Parts: sequence; C-alpha cells; structure tokens
Amino acid sequence: MTDKAEKYVAAIDQGTTSSRCIVFDHSGSIVAVDQREHRQIFPKPGWVEHDATEIWSKVQAVVAGAIAKAGLRADQLSALGITNQRETTVLWDRATGKPVHNAIVWQDTRTSALCHELGGSDGQDRFREQTGLPLASYFSGPKTAWLLDNVPGLRDRAERGEIAFGTIDSWLIWNLTGGTSGGRHVTDVTNAGRTMLMNLETLQWDPAILAAMNVPEVMLPEIRSSSEVYGTAVGRLNGVPVASALGDQQAAVFGQACYDVGDAKNTYGTGSFLLLNTGNRPVPSKSGLLTTMGYKIGDEAPVYCLEGAIAITGALVQWFRDQLGIIRSADEIESLAGSVEDNGGAYIVPAFSGLFAPYWRSDARGVITGLTRYVTKAHLARAVLEATSWQTREVVDAMFQDSGVELTTLKVDGGMTKNNLLMQHQADVLGVPAIRPRVSETTCLGAAYAAGLATGVWDGLDELKSHWQKDAEWTPSMEPSVRDREYRNWKKAVEKSFGWLE
Ligand code: G3P
Repeated sequence: MTDKAEKYVAAIDQGTTSSRCIVFDHSGSIVAVDQREHRQIFPKPGWVEHDATEIWSKVQAVVAGAIAKAGLRADQLSALGITNQRETTVLWDRATGKPVHNAIVWQDTRTSALCHELGGSDGQDRFREQTGLPLASYFSGPKTAWLLDNVPGLRDRAERGEIAFGTIDSWLIWNLTGGTSGGRHVTDVTNAGRTMLMNLETLQWDPAILAAMNVPEVMLPEIRSSSEVYGTAVGRLNGVPVASALGDQQAAVFGQACYDVGDAKNTYGTGSFLLLNTGNRPVPSKSGLLTTMGYKIGDEAPVYCLEGAIAITGALVQWFRDQLGIIRSADEIESLAGSVEDNGGAYIVPAFSGLFAPYWRSDARGVITGLTRYVTKAHLARAVLEATSWQTREVVDAMFQDSGVELTTLKVDGGMTKNNLLMQHQADVLGVPAIRPRVSETTCLGAAYAAGLATGVWDGLDELKSHWQKDAEWTPSMEPSVRDREYRNWKKAVEKSFGWLE
C-alpha cells in the first residue's frame, strides 16, 4: 500500500486564455506546472470563440508536460481533478467527437438580443428565482439556443440525440474518459449552475427553463457532485480516476479553504470573481450579485455562494499590451504605473463585454474618461490597474448590502496578485487588508483537493484548512477622503459607459 505522503494529485485548469496542469503532493505543495496558451478568436465585435479541439490538444500537452517535469509516471497519480473557465459552451457530435462549431466563450455578447427577448415582461429576472442568475449573454443556455438556431440542421440532430452539450469540464471529462469509445458525459453542480438551465434547489435541469429556451434535454450531461469518481482516464493517464470538476472560481473558493459561512476570496484572472460562502442555502441577491453553487462534496449537502463577477480585469492589461502596444509584457505595467504618483485624472471602464456585477448592462461599452494633455501612458497604466480595484470595491459593497457580512480581510489569488501596486491599491480602496496564500494557484489546488477527497488522499476539510498559509499581506494606507473622492470619480466614469448599444 502506498504511504499517504507519497500520493500525488494532478489538476487541469482550463482557463480563458490558457490551459495549465499542476501536480501537487500530499501537503498541497506544487511539484510541477506546465501551461500553454490557446487562440482567442474574435469573428465580430463582441464575439469571442475558442477552438475546443485546440483546447483538448493543449490540455493533453500540459498534462504530459507537468507529469514529465514532476518526474512521475501516470500510475503514480492518485487522482486527476478538473477546473475550468465557466459558461463557455461546446457542442459536439457524439459519433465523431468533433465540435460542430467553435466554442462560444463566456465573454461573447452575441446573445444579448436573445436574452432581452427571453426576458419578455419579466426582464432580466425571469429565471432568477430558479437559477440565481439574471438573463445575460454570459451564461451557457442562451449560447446553446443560439447555436441550435444558427448552425444549419443542428436542432434536428440535437433532438435526435446526436449532439452533446458541454461546458469545458464536460468536454474534457468526455475526452479524458474515452471520447467516442465510451467517454462519460457528465458535469458538476458548479458548472451546471452557470448554464442558467439548472435549478438551484433540485440541482437538476429545470424542465420549464429548457422549454422556454428550447434546449432539448437529451443533449445535456448528467449533473453530479464536484467531488466523486466520474470515470477513469484512458490514453496517457490510463487508469487514473477523474475525480473532481469545479468551475474555476468555485475551485478557488475550495483551494482558499473558504469552508465557513462568511469566508470570501477574490481571484484576479482574465476577469475577477469575488465569492462569499453563504452556507447550505442559496441567498437571493438584490444588489446585482449572482446566487451560485460553491461546491458539493460527494453526498454531502451543497454549499452556496454569492458571487460578484467582473468580466474584464487582467484582460484589460492584455488589451493594453496587445491592442494598444503600450507595454511589451504584462509585468511591465507595474513599473510604468509606478513611475507616476496617481492616475492624472484618467479612468478606464473596461466594459468590453458590457458590464457584469453589479450592473448587468449589456449596453455598456468601454470608456476612457478624464483625459487632458497632462495624461501620459503611465497615468493610463495606473488607470488600467485601478479599474480592477474599483470594480472589486463595487462588488464588495453589493456583497455587504445583500448579506450584511462586512469583510475584515480579503483573501486574494490569481496572476494579478503578484502586482504589488495593484494589491496595495486594492487594500486602500477596500479599507481592509488583502492577503495572499503561499500557494496562490488556488484554482488548481481546489480541483486537486476535491479529487483527492474523493479518492482518500485527504481525510476532510480540517486537514485541507491546515495547509493554508499566508504569503503576503497589503494593509490599507490611503486617506479616506482621497478614497471617497476617487470612488465618486470612478462611478461617474461608469455612468459614461452606459447606453452604447441600441
Ligand atoms: O466565469 C468565467 C470565469 O470562469 C473565467 O475565469 O480565470 O478563465 O478568467 P478565467
């Protein structure tokens, strides 16, 4: 029998811009990492697609890469966990295993008009009670309906049971466990909850919503918990149990050990997502937050969260680099922004996909305000970073209004947390410390934890909690009067982003 100390768990994080595989040891420490980017496809303004076949080959490559770097054989892995960009929608042919269209990415706004139509006289809240979500182009149900209506012949084929729907977790599990020769067609509650087709109480597909969106149930995966063995891998990982699936933000909740009511984390990736654990009951939001699944471990009761979803944060830095060419690497933004004292009066509202929480305005588009001839690229670099902290401040305020829970600290993670200037500004505008854990790859860690719990690598949440250690802390130092003035300016800039789409 293998000693527990020698057990390893691998996790795949299939994100919006890249795929990563991390191997963890029994103490939750990173043994090896491999990562690859994939293409972003922008066919029209507001449209964002991925090639799901490319994603699957990048995933295979990073899994092979991480195992090789760890110096392990596949049979030394106790389990494989999966976490993924959520809402991104893939439809594939069950017989050939080939996607029938590019995946429609969560940021894509092509279904704005459809969502408006679906809302009818109830507007955005038509399905909020059942799903916890406002009708918005963000979620997978309307994306699926769009594909069924726009790819010739697809609806008939879907109704005949020839087409499978999946968020990226389903697509990967299906491929990992055999694809056309017997792959499992499953998803977990956290991913299913982001389709807008799952009922938050029953944790099953909601027949009334399926009918309203005209999505045939036969194409949907079976909804399972976030931590159980869905099947065993074939191919390079032959025999390794595929034992967890969580949307990436929920995986970060799990990896940050937010297991108690009132625990919250913010992950800074392409977008930023602040989730607060609200316990075993869904808490409705009146302030523009999402009521969403946190996680469900095997047969245990589900845990719910309130979520502030911000579409564009890290992606604004990428845009500054790739579309404007002002910096050559994302890391350069910190020194450029740090070369000036403040934003010089400039604010950037990155409403590239409309504005998500707390506004849910699909008519919003990005704006830069406050320009004078004084403003330099360094001030703009600051405005890019500050856009992240102000958007976070707005969801923290909404969180307080909905839950009455006042944050005393914010657990932070994700790529942007290595930017000290940003993290300091974040602590300043929230007025509470931001704390980063030693393992800041919390998304993969959460998926690994959930997979390890399902396969006996770890005993329970107390053991996982004991792994959590602080790495860095930023304490607020901004004058409250400055903070309040800046916040007012930010809100004025946000107002200017509304109303750009008829
Ligand atoms: O809901 C979208 C989210 O899951 C994307 O996360 O980290 O790929 O930006 P990320």
